[in-house]
Amino acid sequence: MRGSRQTFFNLFCILWLPILLKAASSSPLPRGNDPPTASLSSGLYKGHTCVGCVLVVSVIEQLAQWHNSTVKAAMERLCNYIPEKLQGFCYVLAELYGPHIAELIDREMNADVVCHSLKLCKEDPGQPLCHLYAPPKVGLSAAIKKAKSIMKTSKDLKSFMGFSSVCAFPLLANLCEKIKYVMRNKLPFEDFDGDKFSTFPTLRGYHWRGRDCNDKNTTVYPGRRPDNWDVKSDSNCNGIWGVDPKDGIPYEEKFCKGADSQGVVLLGDSAGAHFHIPPEWMTVTQMSAKSFANLPMAFTDELDWPQFSEITGFLNSTIGGWTDSLYLRLRRRNRCNHRDLQNISQNGGSSGNLLYLIKSLARNQLLDNPAIVIYATIGNDVCNGNRDTLAHMTTPKEMVSNVMQALRYLDSHLPNSSHVILTGLVDGRFLWDNLHDRYHPLGQLNRDITYSQIYSFLDCLQVSPCSGWLTPNETLRNLTSERALQLSNVLKEIARSEKFANFDIFYMDFPLRQTAEEWHKMGGEPWQLIEPVDGFHPSQIAAALGTRITWQKALHEWPQVLGRENPFNDQIEAIFKDQGGH
Ligand SMILES: *[C@@H]1O[C@H](CO)[C@@H](O)[C@H](O)[C@H]1NC(C)=O
Ligand SMILES: *[C@@H]1O[C@H](CO)[C@@H](O)[C@H](O)[C@H]1NC(C)=O
Ligand SMILES: *[C@@H]1O[C@H](CO)[C@@H](O)[C@H](O)[C@H]1NC(C)=O
Ligand SMILES: *[C@@H]1O[C@H](CO)[C@@H](O)[C@H](O)[C@H]1NC(C)=O
Ligand SMILES: *[C@@H]1O[C@H](CO)[C@@H](O)[C@H](O)[C@H]1NC(C)=O
Ligand SMILES: *[C@@H]1O[C@H](CO)[C@@H](O)[C@H](O)[C@H]1NC(C)=O
Ligand SMILES: *[C@@H]1O[C@H](CO)[C@@H](O)[C@H](O)[C@H]1NC(C)=O
Repeated sequence: MRGSRQTFFNLFCILWLPILLKAASSSPLPRGNDPPTASLSSGLYKGHTCVGCVLVVSVIEQLAQWHNSTVKAAMERLCNYIPEKLQGFCYVLAELYGPHIAELIDREMNADVVCHSLKLCKEDPGQPLCHLYAPPKVGLSAAIKKAKSIMKTSKDLKSFMGFSSVCAFPLLANLCEKIKYVMRNKLPFEDFDGDKFSTFPTLRGYHWRGRDCNDKNTTVYPGRRPDNWDVKSDSNCNGIWGVDPKDGIPYEEKFCKGADSQGVVLLGDSAGAHFHIPPEWMTVTQMSAKSFANLPMAFTDELDWPQFSEITGFLNSTIGGWTDSLYLRLRRRNRCNHRDLQNISQNGGSSGNLLYLIKSLARNQLLDNPAIVIYATIGNDVCNGNRDTLAHMTTPKEMVSNVMQALRYLDSHLPNSSHVILTGLVDGRFLWDNLHDRYHPLGQLNRDITYSQIYSFLDCLQVSPCSGWLTPNETLRNLTSERALQLSNVLKEIARSEKFANFDIFYMDFPLRQTAEEWHKMGGEPWQLIEPVDGFHPSQIAAALGTRITWQKALHEWPQVLGRENPFNDQIEAIFKDQGGH
């Protein structure tokens, strides 16, 4: 796995916590197994530190402007908005960086200049100076030089650059550990404890897989076939158990026997995991304490919102749009499927690193129900932030090998009669075409930052989520799409020609075109299908519409995948209500 695959996750870890990663990355972390990744990722953290700094300084600057206040007051305002647990940290940051930031902003230096002079953005020898805003009239280098000379005369910066006790803050200590763990192992937040299902929402808990209904008993979990028809207790957590007093037949047997019960598993990337950075975090005109209420949860879920996602979503969306998911539809079709979901996706997931991620799949071939597995790595095989991005894309040959390895693993872990649906890669030209000249949330107040500027800034820092598509170079965008199409064709061919013992296999194109058509019919605009902050991921609306399209396709072309409609659904609902919730 390459360090660049961590991009989506890191971007935000650092937004509000620039120092945290600075502390983490400069501490002598045990090295992973492959040294190249280590050096690559230190470059990445540098890039993310710069992005985080520029974003935060921009927000402070705009808050001061909007409220006609001093920069100091704007910083205090921002810290007040942030949830209490993180406030202490915010005030420490404000204390450390505040005076310098205030002094520079008061002299009308923009965020680029401020961050370069604070050394949170660094210039690599032989590389261009990266900047988000149009350079100041005197030129960027000159402005930075001037800012640095102002700083020299004020308090010594070094005294707090060595700051590394961040992890002493109670909430952050936990996060620090997780982040270090991820950096060290290049792995998702999985497997801290052996038991994979949990009653805890975040940190890969039940937002990610069906909630456990008895965390103390490892033989109780969603997706297993019921133990003795769940006469005494609910062994599969679908909320159905006990015996009908009228006839002495266990409910699970009565309602679920022969019902084709099956789970939903997503093997995917940040799109599947539903990466989302709330635009409220950087839109000063509407900013309030409410805007940040979800900050701690968002961090502990790696800025993903699997609970609202296209395949495994199960809660009503609180981030715009609405929730529709394959899981919810399968559950509606057969309520015995309640809670049988697993979201095995990771920000940066690609055909290559899924081979690690897949090991966290929890399915017992002998004891569990079959599953529908959606294999959806829709972009990372062609998306990376490298300067020679084309050279770092997965080749068709590598794709065949990666996908076949994953499928063989599934064949040895999925119960018989499972199904696998391979989803093709997206055509990411949609992104540039619909966004490049629009204003980014950060640029809406002063109409000064377009997506094209954001993309170039990230590209310059080599932290672009996709240098091949998020670029003004049309030839490069076309070449990236060409490769994506080749890789989709690999998937299509595998679905056509390969046979497996324990599942049948299907292919579908990523339904972007149909999604855009549907949304157009509903009166929407194409740009609303893209995440506003990162300008890269599918939005909540796109996810929900995509579910409907996928479902219709399966219903018409592969009805055997979805199983029968359970005639007892109404009775299950009448007796078991919401079946213990999610
Ligand atoms: C902003 O505040 C200053 C000083 O408090 C005042 O002189 C100025 O008129 C205010 N500007 C606006 C646009 O409210
Ligand atoms: C754990 O759950 C299984 C299945 O329901 C049950 O047979 C077993 O007795 C339980 N074990 C304990 C220690 O409760
Ligand atoms: C899977 O997890 C990812 C990562 O959080 C999340 O973004 C996505 O929405 C989840 N997918 C489903 C279908 O729950
Ligand atoms: C979502 O909202 C709808 C309508 O407001 C409600 O009927 C439904 O129960 C909610 N679903 C969940 C999972 O909360
Ligand atoms: C799986 O089930 C099918 C029928 O449902 C059967 O034909 C096949 O032999 C089974 N495969 C294995 C590996 O048991
Ligand atoms: C890119 O592809 C589009 C669509 O296939 C084509 O119309 C356009 O001419 C291509 N542009 C370049 C620069 O290759
Ligand atoms: C656009 O990208 C292609 C392919 O990487 C490259 O050969 C070409 O030089 C680039 N054009 C410009 C103007 O940078």
